[in-house]
Amino acid sequence: MSLAGAGFPGAAEPAPRGGWPYPRWIAHRGAGTLAPENTLAAFALGHAHGYRMFECDVRLSADGQPFLLHDDRLERTTDGQGEAVDQRWAELAGLDAGSWHSPRHAGERLPSLGDVVEFCRQHDCALNVELKPAPGDEVRTGREVATRLARSWTLALPPLLSSFSVAALAAAAGVAPQLPRGLLLEAFSDEGLGAARRLGCVALICEQRAWDGATVRQARAAGFRLLAYTVNEDGEAARLLALGVNGLITDRIDHFPASAGA
Ligand code: G3P
Ligand code: MG
Repeated sequence: MSLAGAGFPGAAEPAPRGGWPYPRWIAHRGAGTLAPENTLAAFALGHAHGYRMFECDVRLSADGQPFLLHDDRLERTTDGQGEAVDQRWAELAGLDAGSWHSPRHAGERLPSLGDVVEFCRQHDCALNVELKPAPGDEVRTGREVATRLARSWTLALPPLLSSFSVAALAAAAGVAPQLPRGLLLEAFSDEGLGAARRLGCVALICEQRAWDGATVRQARAAGFRLLAYTVNEDGEAARLLALGVNGLITDRIDHFPASAGA
């Protein structure tokens, strides 16, 4: 894995779209709500709709396996119960993560991070791994996920790590500083900008309403690329594209062509 040509400062080749080498459109949790979130079925559906970059939420099992799950608890999106971080991967891997969504997805499994890395390798896709640690598990999660990604990722364009957790991103940077990082923010602030700078982030990933002319200028002047979540409305997409936001994370893979605004 190399950042050469990836379009970051110091990269060898000029990059398109303001130096941001990733696709403009990113499929949130694989396919938004059209398939069970954070599953391989979702990745496959996003891919079938033309998407070539995926956001997913990654946390650790009790025995340290990184896997995809948004919530701390299992009930909403699996047939399991309790805190995911209390359970071993052998138990989690047997859960049904599809029936809650629709009968045709019954039996869909929770993917490991390795499963998703392999999907991206096979389909030549980019990945945004959101570190979603259980409370108190920030450092272990950042270290383990970044270590495994650094070892297993083989495509030229590296996975983008993101998190609302400064501690998780700092831990990731400690073990794999070469992996690009983005700080997630619900609202733009000077504190957030400072934290992203200290973390050596390449991007700020804000809730879409945080971006306006002033915040875009401020973040750009500080050297960051800009991403927005979760962009599901035409008006917001047009506004953000006009502002020059580099990446849009969306649920609406069936509505926004992956090449829109490219
Ligand atoms: O990474 C952007 C977005 O996924 C952050 O919020 O709750 O959907 O993980 P959430
Ligand atoms: Mg997420």
